Amino acid sequence: MIRIKIAKTLQQLARAALFLLPALGLATLASDARAQTPQYGQDLHIGVTSCAGSTCHGATTPWENSTVLQNEYVTWSQKDEHSKAYATLLNEDSKRIAANLGLPNAHEADLCLDCHADNTPKDKRGRFFQISDGVACESCHGGAQRYLGIHISGAANHQDNLNAGMYPTEDPVKRAELCLSCHFGDDKKFVTHRIMGAGHPRMSFELDTFTAIQPAHFEIDNDYRKRKAVANGVRTWAIGQAIALKRRVDAAADPQRGWDGLFPELVLFDCQACHHPLTAPTWQPRPSTGLPSGVVRFDDSNALMLGIIADHVDSDLGATLKQQMKALHASTLEGLEAYKTAANALKETADGLVAKFSTHAFGKDDIAAMMTGVLTQAAAAEFSDYAGAEQATMALSAIAAAARDAGMAELAKGIDAPLAKAFTALDKYDGWDHPGFQAAIAEIKPAP
Ligand code: HEC
Ligand code: HEC
Ligand code: HEC
Ligand code: HEC
Repeated sequence: MIRIKIAKTLQQLARAALFLLPALGLATLASDARAQTPQYGQDLHIGVTSCAGSTCHGATTPWENSTVLQNEYVTWSQKDEHSKAYATLLNEDSKRIAANLGLPNAHEADLCLDCHADNTPKDKRGRFFQISDGVACESCHGGAQRYLGIHISGAANHQDNLNAGMYPTEDPVKRAELCLSCHFGDDKKFVTHRIMGAGHPRMSFELDTFTAIQPAHFEIDNDYRKRKAVANGVRTWAIGQAIALKRRVDAAADPQRGWDGLFPELVLFDCQACHHPLTAPTWQPRPSTGLPSGVVRFDDSNALMLGIIADHVDSDLGATLKQQMKALHASTLEGLEAYKTAANALKETADGLVAKFSTHAFGKDDIAAMMTGVLTQAAAAEFSDYAGAEQATMALSAIAAAARDAGMAELAKGIDAPLAKAFTALDKYDGWDHPGFQAAIAEIKPAP
């Protein structure tokens, strides 16, 4: 489902890249380790109507002389799926999922509301708060009780807003943690294989691509750069991959989420290791896993991306990552203790990668190297699993956008048509077209 939407929004992404001109400099990204994701923050959530006034964020068109666009509400309510997330819980698909799980309904179940709405505790909801607003402004920006007044007055700078409870969505680490809390899950909420089995769609995520196709209701211009530190698209992609891997291995090592009876939690594994047609044999070795045929593979799609990035940024860390990922694959043939130990080792490496990427500049050389790295690898056997091919395709679209932003249009020249073909090859999850994907990638020839 999402792939179709992404293919349609590719053009939009290319357009967005023209005005999202992130600085390539080494912006200081002081990650605030304390910032809680908004759902569990201390502040009262006052509701979308408090943000949506026509002189606040509810203008129909962007304002000329304002630092922010002012039409964020209109973008969110008309073009952003988040505004429909609660309504989804009332549809036939959700009714079926709820019935299969033995829930009375989906729209009153915390299990669903935790990700499909701003399900902050009842005592943190203001008078105008409505759960039916879905994933709303304060789900991402934090309860506005304390920052509403000061940010309207115009006297507050961004740091004042953050001090008053605004969530640092501009920081790629905090943004990745926020988005992935719903787009993968965390220790408080999680789509298990039982929920998938009841009919929940498979989830995929790539931080930079998803930020652009949400669609973005912000513009990175000179004035934005004065107010906030800016991470370019390649760094955002890299950090998103590292945090996604961390979330997956966190879940694997977690005694609560890591197992379901005799089996490990199956959503952590490559869905198509089990869910694929048997009419024609398709298995082929994936050298980096070291695994034989007929074995359930851990979903290593984020690690495949990270291998490419780390090879360039810190090859020692890259070698450690690959060796530890291989150890995790091997552990699945050994037993639960080995699996847990391997997952914990990878967690540390993922943390190291986040730290490394947060200070690495990701300049023009890096962008060119990432493009070559992904193109070279994507053609190889390692990308014969859907999840890896999907990440490679989203990576290429993120790198191409970053190249255009950085004034390296040549590098991204002619990439849009083959990329659209790659997305088309991924459209049908059940019958995805691996040769079509490889052919599309082979058509991409970046200028040297
Ligand atoms: C509170 C949970 C939550 C958070 C936080 C969240 N999302 Fe979502 N997101 C959802 C849900 C639920 C949907 C599906 C909505 C629907 O169709 O009902 C969704 C859908 C989307 C879609 C559309 C996907 C498609 O198939 O077309 C994009 C893009 C997206 N989110 C990007 C992001 C980004 C980027 C962030 C972080 C800045 C983010 N989301 C944070 C819950 C969340
Ligand atoms: C950990 C967060 C999380 C939980 C828990 C969760 N969802 Fe979702 N759900 C999502 C996200 C994110 C998407 C969008 C997936 C995408 O497009 O990549 C989604 C998509 C969906 C869709 C497809 C929406 C569309 O636009 O077609 C349905 C239906 C759905 N969820 C129902 C449910 C129900 C019912 C429950 C409770 C049993 C539930 N979800 C629990 C995060 C969650
Ligand atoms: C799914 C998460 C999400 C939701 C929902 C969301 N935003 Fe945002 N918003 C972001 C991200 C990510 C950014 C970009 C990073 C940044 O500048 O903080 C952003 C940026 C902004 C900015 C800053 C623009 C600038 O130039 O500094 C404003 C203002 C804003 N959002 C308002 C809103 C309003 C109003 C709503 C509700 C109608 C809303 N947002 C809903 C994630 C979200
Ligand atoms: C180890 C093998 C394995 C893995 C890995 C796995 N599944 Fe499953 N899946 C199963 C089994 C077994 C069933 C139950 C089939 C049945 O009830 O007939 C199932 C059922 C399902 C169903 C319900 C199918 C139906 O006919 O209604 C869905 C949807 C599903 N899985 C999605 C996923 C997704 C998405 C992933 C990856 C995130 C995944 N599965 C990973 C083995 C697996």
